Amino acid sequence: MKAVVLSTLLFATFFAQQASSAPNPVKGEELFKQCSSCHAIGEGASHTVGPTLNHVFGRIAGKADGYTIYSDAMRAKGEDEQLLWDEKSLYIFLAGPARYIPGTIMGFEGLRKEQEIKDLLAYLISFSPAYEPESSSVVSAEAIATVSLPVLKEEEEEETPTFDEEYLANAEAITIGGELWAKQCRHCHGNSAYPGKAPKLTPARYKPEFVFNRVTDGFRKMPAWKSVFTLEERKAIVAYVQSNQFSP
Ligand code: HEC
Ligand code: HEC
Repeated sequence: MKAVVLSTLLFATFFAQQASSAPNPVKGEELFKQCSSCHAIGEGASHTVGPTLNHVFGRIAGKADGYTIYSDAMRAKGEDEQLLWDEKSLYIFLAGPARYIPGTIMGFEGLRKEQEIKDLLAYLISFSPAYEPESSSVVSAEAIATVSLPVLKEEEEEETPTFDEEYLANAEAITIGGELWAKQCRHCHGNSAYPGKAPKLTPARYKPEFVFNRVTDGFRKMPAWKSVFTLEERKAIVAYVQSNQFSP
């Protein structure tokens, strides 16, 4: 399975929304890995086991052009009941596909948590750019023809960068890293963080490459930041953590 990163636009939304439990498309992207064995999405995606989920919001169920193996149950939902995929119907469907559409051939149990479904829908809706959120209206083929879809990039293999003395002393990097630390790391690792949430960092014991790899790939309960921060940002965090200015 290919890991994918989404455009920076979504990450901006992510930062804006992080404080609350507002639907989080970045988490949704992560959850979509449960779907991507059967559904492709993004510019150039085609039908695989399941129909592509591009432009699924505003589409009548069972009506993706060129997907020919819908179940009778799914077809009937569309043709007889005119079921439209919108925020509400997708929510109910993803909570229990076979409960909502008995006879569907979608082999997926459903997502249990409300927040997960919302996060996933926040991700999916970005691939339905012609759909007006909350409108519950059918999107025409003409409207679809006027919009472009987000492009998914394949995640590039990345080597651990080397950190020389000069970079580690770079004042600008340290400042940027310090700001990111305050926003994204302190609430878990800081002195005032809830005890036991995360270990207090002991930078004197770390090599910069270790910090970089932890930040990039995460480890157990430590989240991975690779798809959230650019390479430069992750390097800057390392410079900050390893600097004299580090103040948790
Ligand atoms: C094991 C394969 C599989 C997985 C995993 C899977 N799907 Fe499906 N999905 C299908 C198939 C096959 C259909 C067609 C179902 C039918 O015709 O009854 C479908 C249909 C759908 C539809 C209706 C599309 C339409 O054109 O009417 C939506 C929406 C959908 N899937 C979303 C998802 C999401 C979101 C996930 C992940 C949470 C997911 N699916 C996971 C195989 C899968
Ligand atoms: C949601 C809470 C959380 C956030 C946010 C978080 N971390 Fe962590 N971090 C952890 C946990 C938990 C561990 C311990 C993982 C383990 O070893 O099981 C950890 C481990 C680490 C370690 C390794 C520590 C050691 O001594 O082994 C480093 C370095 C680190 N985090 C840096 C960061 C940086 C930098 C950020 C901000 C980009 C960050 N963390 C954000 C929870 C968090």
